[in-house]
Amino acid sequence: MTKIEAKLEDIEKVAKINIGKNLKYYILTMGCQLNENDSEKLCGMIEKMNYTKTENLNDADLIVFNTCCVRENAEDRLFGKLGEVKKYKEEKGTIIAIGGCMMQEKHIVEKLKESYPFFDIVFGTHTLHKFPTDLYKIINNRKRIEDILDIDGEVIEGLPISREDNVKASVTIMNGCNNFCSYCIVPYVRGRERSRMPKDILTEIKNLAKMGYKEITLLGQNVNSYLRVEKEKNIEFEEYEGVNSFATLLQAINKIDGIERIRFISPHPKDFTDDVIEAICNCQKVCKLVHLPLQSGSTNVLKQMNRKYTKEQYLSLVKKMKAKIPNVTFSTDIIVGFPGETEEDFEDTLDVVRKVGFEQVYMFIYSRRVGTPGDKMENQIPEEIKHERFDRLKQLVESQIEARNKEYLGTIQKVLIEGKSKNNDNMLTGRTDSNKVVVLEGTESLIGKIVLVKITSEHMWYLKGKEES
Ligand code: 5AD
Ligand code: SF4
Repeated sequence: MTKIEAKLEDIEKVAKINIGKNLKYYILTMGCQLNENDSEKLCGMIEKMNYTKTENLNDADLIVFNTCCVRENAEDRLFGKLGEVKKYKEEKGTIIAIGGCMMQEKHIVEKLKESYPFFDIVFGTHTLHKFPTDLYKIINNRKRIEDILDIDGEVIEGLPISREDNVKASVTIMNGCNNFCSYCIVPYVRGRERSRMPKDILTEIKNLAKMGYKEITLLGQNVNSYLRVEKEKNIEFEEYEGVNSFATLLQAINKIDGIERIRFISPHPKDFTDDVIEAICNCQKVCKLVHLPLQSGSTNVLKQMNRKYTKEQYLSLVKKMKAKIPNVTFSTDIIVGFPGETEEDFEDTLDVVRKVGFEQVYMFIYSRRVGTPGDKMENQIPEEIKHERFDRLKQLVESQIEARNKEYLGTIQKVLIEGKSKNNDNMLTGRTDSNKVVVLEGTESLIGKIVLVKITSEHMWYLKGKEES
């Protein structure tokens, strides 16, 4: 029996036990899209085991927390939630499972055992596929299970998946990270870089296209080094439809009928090779919004962060892409208050923001992560300075976004309609190629279609428009 067959057998076993019991599950997902994609796989398995989803903690017979550990606030959130669910456990024996990146940190699992010992299952980022087996054991003998294992574990293909959306789908193309940026915990919790095989990825995307999905976001901690480690270490992989690199992967997906848009997060600036720039340019379905994490605009800070590029190299990469890719736009991630960041360093960050003119900036206050080199640095920045810099960056970013929004007024944009607007049932919502949210009037029949929309008004976080007839 293959590994996946064994797992599917465990799913069947739990499904049989649960049949006719009208059981419900609640899931909370923290963190990035990679984690959301893992949660979609968890939901796929859980639903096959005869649980239906509920948004209410107190209705649930199974509660799952899929955690993140990139920044400290997620920890506070998890501990708060655990305080909240303790009573359900005591009152009606709700099964409590905690998984994801935070569970790969020893000190967190220790704290859980000490302060929140009522949980049933702890699972890591590479033991997702074992969830049905763990659940089966818990249902049968209620002994707590820890299934965390090594972080470089094999990724099992073919698990069921219950996707959040009908138009857009995320596809993880690689797991782990080899970069060791000095602020980041990810390499310690998600292990070494390994790529999924081209055939598995392309088959998944072709199936998504058949199911009617229009937009694919390729996910990975370092997407543009797809298959690089395999090549460097002579690890055998099977080329499929000419795919042997990130650029060739983009080209192959671009040929899949039914898929209209391709996005990817996140690339690393140091690995942004010319073949990838060419592929973005030549593949008509690849969106021209490039997410290019800056982290800091200061060469000194970048060096301390172990990012392996300078301010000038980042700016010249942007310049090259602006010259080669018509209508290219950029989004980015920035951390303020990294240890040793001086006022001058911070000014460099503002300078890059002014020069590039990002479409969107995800801003973070530096958060010390146990086990990373950044945590051991002596020149930590006081909280009030970090916050003051964050506010200044936010002001600049918002003024730039406002100015950019104005440039959209009167233009005609290709908008992929994603669904009904959350705030108004009579309106539809969609996104431009540059990932701007657009709200417009229209019928449900437009959902999943790319529509030409004239932008009529702008607001900070969305644009309004009218369908062009
Ligand atoms: N503190 C603050 N932000 C962080 N990020 C990663 N680690 C930290 C940290 N320790 C941010 C980076 C990354 C994004 C996903 O989260 O900007 O690109
Ligand atoms: Fe995603 Fe990283 Fe958070 Fe894990 S730790 S959920 S990989 S951001």
